Amino acid sequence: MSNTINGCVSGNCACKSAASVQRRDPFDETDYGTPLRHTDIDVTLEIDGQSVTVPAGTSVMRASIEAGINVPKLCATDSLKPWGSCRLCLVEIEGKRGYPASCTTPVEASMKVRTQSDKLQSLRRNVMELYISDHPLDCLTCPANGDCELQDMAGVVGLREVRYGYEGANHLKDKKDESNPYFTYDPSKCIVCNCCMRACEETHGTFALTIAGRGFESRVAASENVPFMESECVSCGACVAACPTATLQEKSAIMFD
Ligand code: SF4
Ligand code: SF4
Ligand code: FES
Repeated sequence: MSNTINGCVSGNCACKSAASVQRRDPFDETDYGTPLRHTDIDVTLEIDGQSVTVPAGTSVMRASIEAGINVPKLCATDSLKPWGSCRLCLVEIEGKRGYPASCTTPVEASMKVRTQSDKLQSLRRNVMELYISDHPLDCLTCPANGDCELQDMAGVVGLREVRYGYEGANHLKDKKDESNPYFTYDPSKCIVCNCCMRACEETHGTFALTIAGRGFESRVAASENVPFMESECVSCGACVAACPTATLQEKSAIMFD
């Protein structure tokens, strides 16, 4: 989530400072998935056989990444509170049923976590396959090519082919909103991760975005589902910076062929 936007109203805007306060080292650009916890109480657990000590309340995801163990993620970033919608960061925890999302699961003392197994790989690949089956396959001409977390994660989970065709219902023909002079909203590329809405609220304190509809119908809506320029949006760019795909894209980064 490294995009910036020309329309950003300030070089010292909240979105940049909010991200940087989560880091212990100001030059560290790692995204730890969930914010740093501030407490004097430490918790020691085991992740992939490695002993890891982190502040109490830290997510399993953050503890893993701090230990150098990467967990796939799409809806988690360390500048926003965890949300747990993409289901890509599933892990196995000894003694716990199912496959909890590591971004929303806090560490516990003596917990034993596995971040890699054939089952996890298969679950993550299935999740990615569903996303990609409702996503335009135009990576080579996409403005986010090479800087797209969806693309990165498809590689991380080893997605080679998508079993579902484009015959069924999809969002590929959804109309772009070009009303904002600084960025475009292309709903055909949206994975409904909610990062934009959370960034608008948590980073900028504006409540311009919601997710309208349910299930397959869910889409990002500006105010009462009006074009961005007619909404309460103040063009701060926090949502664009938080978007892991090319759905919200600054206009200067859009390529024309
Ligand atoms: S929708 Fe919100 S976060 Fe995005 S540019 Fe507008 S005010 Fe900023
Ligand atoms: S516009 Fe981007 S950040 Fe917002 S829900 Fe869609 S993919 Fe996620
Ligand atoms: S990164 Fe944990 S559910 Fe999306």
